[in-house]
Amino acid sequence: MLREGALNNKTIVITGGGTGLGRSMGEALLQLGANLVITSRKLEVLKKTAAEMEAAFGGQVLPVACDVRHYHEVEAVIEAAEAKFGQVDGLVNNAAGNFISPTERLSHRAFNVIIDIVLKGSVNCTLAFGKHWIDKGQRNKTVTNIVTTYAWTGSAYVVPSACAKAGVLAMTRSLAVEWAKYGIRQNAIAPGPFPTKGAWDRLLPGELKKKFDLAKKVPLNRMGENHELADLLSYLVSDYSGYLNGEVITIDGGEWLKGAGQFNMLEMLPTEMWDAIEQMVRSVKGS
Ligand code: HXC
Ligand code: NAP
Repeated sequence: MLREGALNNKTIVITGGGTGLGRSMGEALLQLGANLVITSRKLEVLKKTAAEMEAAFGGQVLPVACDVRHYHEVEAVIEAAEAKFGQVDGLVNNAAGNFISPTERLSHRAFNVIIDIVLKGSVNCTLAFGKHWIDKGQRNKTVTNIVTTYAWTGSAYVVPSACAKAGVLAMTRSLAVEWAKYGIRQNAIAPGPFPTKGAWDRLLPGELKKKFDLAKKVPLNRMGENHELADLLSYLVSDYSGYLNGEVITIDGGEWLKGAGQFNMLEMLPTEMWDAIEQMVRSVKGS
């Protein structure tokens, strides 16, 4: 979507960058000339991904093990990234944990593990990177948070994730105001359904994949394609989006609005019925 070389001289850190959407976003940034740092808990996965990315697209990818729940590990990512690339320009908070469950079946530890990864992990990264940039007086930085549409609608059966993503969205909007003076922009992306192994194995395990066709919930009648999300992320970390701050951009084919509009169910009516319906409605006069 962007011009070749649009991200030259930018270094972007993507948490959870070894798999799924994080990997796809990283590939797009790399193709536009960015230096990339990918992090997650599994160094072997990261190393393999980094090698495959460099072979396919050129550029430089630094894999660094980091559990976002541990602040000192996040600080070590900044150190490693600066040692290799000189400075970091953007943080993408993409790492997440999630699974479906009736909430009453969850132990407090199960609830906490999601809050710890998604909310506290994003807080740890944002705080560590933000403090660093502010202390060094470095400007023109971006934090982009990957949330989801149930950050504002809520959702049954993924309550810890909904609570955590809502918190991340609140942080996005709050710091967009507070840290703008330091030259740090904060935005969020809310993806709809993008089938990845990590998400689908935990959200639609086994037969559920066949039982619930998520494409049917989407007005555009299909799932998202990873490159569509990656293009949006590329724009948000680039200087072309320099006046975007505090925004959450939904990329879901219209999915959440379909569930929200009071009369959206009328979509199901066949066109032939509308003549009769119009007549009935027009005949209601003065009553
Ligand atoms: C109930 C569960 C559970 C389940 C784990 N627990 N799975 N409880 N149902 N299915 C409980 C455990 O019993 C334990 O509680 C506690 O949660 C912690 O579990 P651990 O396995 O020790 O945690 P950990 O090894 O840190 O693994 C974290 C994880 C795992 C979140 C549970 O799934 C993971 O690593 N996920 C990372 C990747 C991921 O989730 N990707 C999907 C993102 S998709 P007790 O009480 O027994 O000690 C996404 C999409 C959003 O976010 C929007 C979609 C539209
Ligand atoms: P995924 O492949 O499972 O990605 C999650 C990543 O987070 C993994 O790479 C995982 O790597 C990493 N991670 C988990 N716990 C971590 C921790 N404690 N510290 C560091 N890294 C950790 O799933 P995905 O679908 O690509 O999800 C990516 C993002 O998109 C998430 O924020 C998710 O909520 C969001 N999202 C996805 C969808 C969708 O339809 N797929 C929709 C809306 C939003 P390790 O296991 O190696 O740590």
